[in-house]
Amino acid sequence: MDEHEREMYRRILNWFKGKKQPPFKIDLELHRRCNLSCLMCSRRSDPSYERINEYSEKVEIQKKKWLSIIEEAKDLDVREWHVCGGGEPMFLPDVTLSVMESIKEYGALGIITTNGTLWKRRHIEETIRIGWDRVHFSIHAPFAKVHGFLTNCPGTFERVVKTVKIFNELKRKNISDKPEININFVLSVKNYRFLPEMVKFAKLLNANYLFVDPLIVYSELGEKLKLKDKHIREFPKFLEKACHIAEKIGLKNNFSGLDKNLQPELIEKTSRMHEVVKEDVERAKKMKLKGFKRKFLSTSCYKPFFHMTIKCDGRTTSCDVPVTGGDNIRNKSLKEVWNGEYFEDLREKLMNGKVPDFCAQCNPSHMTQKRACQREILKMVR
Ligand SMILES: C[S@@+](CC[C@H](N)C(=O)[O-])C[C@H]1O[C@@H](n2cnc3c(N)ncnc32)[C@H](O)[C@@H]1O
Repeated sequence: MDEHEREMYRRILNWFKGKKQPPFKIDLELHRRCNLSCLMCSRRSDPSYERINEYSEKVEIQKKKWLSIIEEAKDLDVREWHVCGGGEPMFLPDVTLSVMESIKEYGALGIITTNGTLWKRRHIEETIRIGWDRVHFSIHAPFAKVHGFLTNCPGTFERVVKTVKIFNELKRKNISDKPEININFVLSVKNYRFLPEMVKFAKLLNANYLFVDPLIVYSELGEKLKLKDKHIREFPKFLEKACHIAEKIGLKNNFSGLDKNLQPELIEKTSRMHEVVKEDVERAKKMKLKGFKRKFLSTSCYKPFFHMTIKCDGRTTSCDVPVTGGDNIRNKSLKEVWNGEYFEDLREKLMNGKVPDFCAQCNPSHMTQKRACQREILKMVR
């Protein structure tokens, strides 16, 4: 564990010692506009999906406000930012790159998730120049046909691969390790067989990490893409092969080792993740633990103890899942929101083992990250 991660766990632990802590990490949805229409995308559950780019434009926070939020976050000692949200950040490169620059100006860790199809060479040069830390490219197959099908747009595979290659070329030229390249792969019926090839392909792209999350269902199309029982039964042989190759070629990932983000239970229960959360809480309660350990392990989620999501219209939540609720940052300071009623109520509910309805749509990776957090914090208090 590095010092950055240790600080995150330290802050979570402090809440359980009764000491309030500032947010450690903020996810930014700068806007919801996108150039693609991926078949599995969460934007498809939006009633105004067909006009979502126009709708986003009407409600978005402006660049000046984003920059002032970052100024305040700097004073609060926010250490990590994830630029992602429901749209494609590089749809508005001026806003996105300005936000990224101001995050790096005060030395926080910066991550961006992108479909990789809209980057110009000058954007990549700028990203390297400011010392940006990580770029997560969403690539859902090692072949053009499947990736093009899932992103609902032919040519996307060639474009994202070209972007990754330019990143690699310019990193070499600038003798820079940064940004790290990660690949995000959403597991579906169209690509589960290709996971072993995807591991090799990620290595070929010089990726540092392959992150795989089972598909969450947001629409009828998503339902069709989710793995069915027969696929889940067949999947372990592909997973085993992928783990073997990843170990052999030294590719870090979130599905082998302790994280096990692709266990059949997690694949099967996407969109019913509240059941997995409840089972974990019940298991902890039955362990006859006392004091801190009981309180800590039977807390259903730690997100509002270290994390905040700011949606493009200014609404704030503890993670990217809830579609309603939360204070609006347009009318309040970051500190007021973090210490406000919404976050305080949520913390209390979660500490009492309650599981909000929205947890059904939790990312399986949040579950595995929660379990990793428990392991690490228990080691810290041993
Ligand atoms: C919604 S996208 C937005 C950022 C950017 N446009 C992109 O494609 O990376 C953020 C991440 O969510 C992932 N994602 C999209 N649909 C998903 C689903 N149904 N289940 C799980 N992850 C999903 C994407 O692959 C991507 O890595």
